[in-house]
Amino acid sequence: MAAAGSAVGLGNIWKFPYIAGENGGGAFLIVYLLCVLLFGMPLIMTEFLIGKQSGKSAFGAFRELNGNNRWQWLSWLCMLTSLLIMGFYFVVTGWCFNYLTEAFTNVFQGMDMHELTAHFKQVSSNTPRMLFFGFLPVFLTAGVLWFDVNKGIERLSKILMPLLLVMMFLMAGRVLMLDNSNIGMQFFFQADFSKITPTVIMEAMGQCFFSLSIGMGALITYGAYMPKTQNVTRTSVEVILLDTMVALLAGVIIFPAVFAFGFDPAEGPQLVFVVLPAIFEQMNFAWLSSVLFFALLCIAALTSTISLMEVAVAFLCEATEHTKHPLDRRKSVMVTSIIVMALIALCVCWDSVFGAFDEITACVLMPLGAMGMALFVGWCLPKDGQKGVFHADKGIKRWLRKLFIFFLRFVVPIAILVVFLNSLGVL
Ligand code: PHE
Repeated sequence: MAAAGSAVGLGNIWKFPYIAGENGGGAFLIVYLLCVLLFGMPLIMTEFLIGKQSGKSAFGAFRELNGNNRWQWLSWLCMLTSLLIMGFYFVVTGWCFNYLTEAFTNVFQGMDMHELTAHFKQVSSNTPRMLFFGFLPVFLTAGVLWFDVNKGIERLSKILMPLLLVMMFLMAGRVLMLDNSNIGMQFFFQADFSKITPTVIMEAMGQCFFSLSIGMGALITYGAYMPKTQNVTRTSVEVILLDTMVALLAGVIIFPAVFAFGFDPAEGPQLVFVVLPAIFEQMNFAWLSSVLFFALLCIAALTSTISLMEVAVAFLCEATEHTKHPLDRRKSVMVTSIIVMALIALCVCWDSVFGAFDEITACVLMPLGAMGMALFVGWCLPKDGQKGVFHADKGIKRWLRKLFIFFLRFVVPIAILVVFLNSLGVL
């Protein structure tokens, strides 16, 4: 549940529609689904394996399994990636909180699409307001880690995640009854193969890593907490299915609405924030549905930020353990929060920093991290270490293990390299 909570978040509901909209809809979707098939399963299992075998977070895991410091750079990469993601992710979480309060006071009532677009611009360029709403989820996330109430949040999300799904199904049902919604469905599901460019492939790969939370150590931590009896294959399949379903649902809600209301699918990061209020205007119980939806979205975002911040906090604790100034968990939470708030301030003040963090983490750092982890498990871990993860998985384990190692040794690293070279124009 915790891994699913990490995976399902703004990546599915905010980022997926806007990246798909900018990259040709159906063409993007095909490449995205291929990436999920190719990378999702082996890489989620890789991170679980590293965590489960070592019992450590991203900082200590590689050294524990390998017995030396040669792969320590991967821990640093995970730390850097988690910080940069938090920098912009909290800003978007802040937009959600802002929209939640505005939904509460019925601000969007009667606004047309121009007004909604102007409203987003006005809100997002209000620096003090954005700093307030960006810092608020940092305090909430830090609070969860400080008081160690992760378990409670997990139990809560067991109820709230299905509720979010129900809500999204209802919204999809309403949107599909709008005039011209079929144009949006065509845009999202009909692939025009000529639109598949190296950039589209790169963006789809990045989105796959971002949405599944792979390549930056978040799932290593969750692997470390897994009981030895946990069936890793099943857990991985469940996380992938749930995450992909939420992304697809988000697309089925946003694109028909985009065309029915006359928005532009390539609107950029503000896409869902201008389209969603317009959808609620069309629904029964408009006020209740919009408040409920934005509340659930904020919680989905928080279950992701918890896993993001946990990477940095565990890193600081473990990295300073044997130094003169060891940081305990609470001090690490504090130091991480301060660094993150500085990064949020940069993202709020400069759009270009926001864009750069968003792009570089998904398209460069996470694929690099994932490639490193695949090579580490594929080539450096001894055989019984590679087997370890399947101990609890009955039945298909032998052929699956062989296939898994083959993917980690060759398919995953080569595919990532090809996507990189292709987008640099070398191929
Ligand atoms: N997967 C999360 C989402 O879709 C974002 C995330 C990325 C969380 C990396 C943790 C680590 O919103």
